[in-house]
Amino acid sequence: MHVLGIDFGTSNTVAVLRSADGRVRPLLFDGAPILPSAVYYNSDGRMLVGRDAERNARMDPARFEPNPKRRIDDGSLFLGTSEIPVPQVFAYVLQQVALEAQRQAGQMPGQVRLTHPARWGERRRAILVDSARLAGLPAPQLIPEPVAAASYFTSVLGTAVPPGRSLAIYDLGGGTFDATVVRRTQTGFEVLAEEGVGDIGGLDFDHGIVEHLGKTYGASHAADWQRLLSPADDRDRRYRRMLYEDVRGAKETLSRTASADIHLPALEVDAHLTRAEFEDIARPPLERTVDCLQRAISAARMNPADLVGIFLVGGSSRIPMISQLIHSKLGVPPQTFEQPETVVVEGAVRAASGPAPADQPRTRPTSGGPVSPAGH
Ligand SMILES: Nc1ncnc2c1ncn2[C@@H]1O[C@H](COP(=O)(O)OP(=O)(O)OP(=O)(O)O)[C@@H](O)[C@H]1O
Ligand SMILES: [Mg+2]
Repeated sequence: MHVLGIDFGTSNTVAVLRSADGRVRPLLFDGAPILPSAVYYNSDGRMLVGRDAERNARMDPARFEPNPKRRIDDGSLFLGTSEIPVPQVFAYVLQQVALEAQRQAGQMPGQVRLTHPARWGERRRAILVDSARLAGLPAPQLIPEPVAAASYFTSVLGTAVPPGRSLAIYDLGGGTFDATVVRRTQTGFEVLAEEGVGDIGGLDFDHGIVEHLGKTYGASHAADWQRLLSPADDRDRRYRRMLYEDVRGAKETLSRTASADIHLPALEVDAHLTRAEFEDIARPPLERTVDCLQRAISAARMNPADLVGIFLVGGSSRIPMISQLIHSKLGVPPQTFEQPETVVVEGAVRAASGPAPADQPRTRPTSGGPVSPAGH
């Protein structure tokens, strides 16, 4: 039987398939293991998902929603002139995953594991279950994202996390932040403490950069800048979309380089942003996340040094300043992964239902090195 794991994220959806022999493979969408969670309601009545949705967003941004998960409490979404219930919108994304899983497995997977933010209550989880049903998936098993991430570490670091030892997970994605401390038990992990901030994620850094640019260009190009911020027509909305795409790209580049350029559509200006400027923008919210991590560790009645490790997951955890802040405030350098976006879903298919074979992880610790079994 195949087990399908799905991490429906604010920015990206990632899915993996575990086959009966225990092999875990990522589902590929257009050849990539990450499917943007974006949707676009085409004028012919088709819902486009992922990169197809992003490509079409420029045609009519009013038909586009890049982050449906953030709209979970909205009941329904207006896309173009149509009002579509939120579970149905989610279902289009999940359906794309279901189709790809069926193609790869040759049949519908027998079991589905769907992850969700640790703090989602009954009502939001019910929406997720409803979406899976609408997508034609078998009734899913729901797994909190940090529990799934911890399960990934068991299979990767199995011998290094003996029962009784704990680890902390710092998960900063596109829309949410979660800090969780989990303890290894004989069969899996139990959550000792969790803290989160619902409104800190990659999208907020994007907004922060746009605000910063507004301080420079809002005065010199007042009318054009105002139209970018409050689009009046399709052209403005298109430009706004282009601006946010470029800002997000520049932010990601700044995790690797010292500066990046951002084209400001309508103003026809190329703005320059340095890593130091970005760090000034991101520092206050990032300090809040590290305080939150510290509170979670205290709530678990531990000191950072007692932990097997602090693990960074989620795409936004690539921002280098995060590791520096954690190291300087908590005295422990965190562990990072090559692909922090896929840790949660890879853990989901390894969680519970007996230990999965400890196959080679696709993501390896890239800094701080692997946890030494001897050291703990
Ligand atoms: N190199 C990078 N530097 C900074 N941010 C990055 C980098 N790469 C990706 N990101 C950001 O990571 C975010 C997406 O991460 P991820 O896919 O883990 O989120 P998600 O699972 O969709 O969201 P959530 O878990 O909050 O629902 C985006 O905001 C993206 O811009
Ligand atoms: Mg996520």
